[in-house]
Amino acid sequence: MSFPDALTRARDLAEAQIAAALTDVDLPVAEAMRYAVRGGKGLRAFLVIESASLYGIETAASVAAAIECVHAYSLVHDDLPCMDDDDLRRGLPTVHRKWDEATAVLAGDALQSLGFGLLVDADCPAEYRLDLIRSFALAGGVRGMVGGQALDIMAETADVPLTLEQVIRLQAGKTGALITWSATAGARMAGADITALQTYGDALGLAFQIWDDVLDVTGDAATVGKAVGKDASAGKATFVSLLGLDEAKRRADELVTKACDALAVYGQSAETLREAARFVISRDR
Ligand code: IPE
Ligand code: IPE
Ligand code: MG
Ligand code: MG
Ligand code: MG
Repeated sequence: MSFPDALTRARDLAEAQIAAALTDVDLPVAEAMRYAVRGGKGLRAFLVIESASLYGIETAASVAAAIECVHAYSLVHDDLPCMDDDDLRRGLPTVHRKWDEATAVLAGDALQSLGFGLLVDADCPAEYRLDLIRSFALAGGVRGMVGGQALDIMAETADVPLTLEQVIRLQAGKTGALITWSATAGARMAGADITALQTYGDALGLAFQIWDDVLDVTGDAATVGKAVGKDASAGKATFVSLLGLDEAKRRADELVTKACDALAVYGQSAETLREAARFVISRDR
C-alpha cells in the first residue's frame, strides 16, 4: 500500500473506532468530540498501525484511535482563548468557537478519558497492554505533552526568548512525546525492544515540529487549515525564529535522514515509515 493510502486508511480506522464508541451518546459534548477528531492527517494513527504491522499485528485500530483522541484533545485545549486563542482548526471553526469554552474543555477532557478507555481494548497480552497504558500516561502528561505545552505558554511571557536547547526540550514534550509513543506502540504491543522505533520517533517528532514552525511562516491559512503567522506575532522563539528558514529546513532534512537510518533493522518492511518521515518535511498542511 502506498504511503498516502496507508495514512488515509489509518485515519479512517481510528475515526470509525471513535465514532463507534460514541454512537449512543447524543449530548452536544459528544457531538463536539466527533467534530474534534475529524479531518486530521492521522499521522499518529498511521504510526501506530504501521509499527504494529512491523510485528505482524494487524489489529491495532483501537490503539490508533486512542492516540488520535488524546491528540485531538490536546488541539481542542491548545486552541482555547487561555492558550493560543485560535478560531480555525482543520479548516473549520475551533470547538470553542462552534460551541463554547465549557463544551471545548469538557470535550477535551472526555476525549482524554476515551483514549485511555480504548487502550484497554488493545489486542495484546495484558502485561504488554499495561506497558502501553503506562507509557501513554507518561507521554500525555506533565513529563510529556502537557509539560511541553506548559513550557510553551511560559515562554510567551518570558523576558528573554528561549535558547535552541530550551526549544528542543519544549518540543520533545509538546509534540515529540505523542509522536514517539505512536511510533513505539507496535513494538510495545509485541513486547519487543522499542529502541529503533524510539530513535525514529524522536527524530521524526522534532522534524515534525520544525515543519509546523516553517508552515506557520510560509503557509497560507486556507491550505494549512489553521491560522498562520501566530508564532511571530506572539513573539515566540521557534526553530525558524532561532535558525532562520533555510537552516531550520536543513535541520529538518538531517533529522529525517536520522529517522530513516534508525529503521535499518527492519529493512525493506519499514519503507512506508521512511516515506512518512519524508512526508513530514514536504507537507503543506
Ligand atoms: C498539529 O498536529 C499540532 C502539533 C503537534 C504541531 P498535526 O499537524 O498532526 O495536526 P492534524 O491532526 O493533522 O490536524
Ligand atoms: C501545539 O503546538 C501542540 C499540541 C497541541 C500539543 P502548536 O500550538 O504549535 O500547534 P498548532 O500550530 O496550533 O497546531
Ligand atoms: Mg500552542
Ligand atoms: Mg496552537
Ligand atoms: Mg504551531
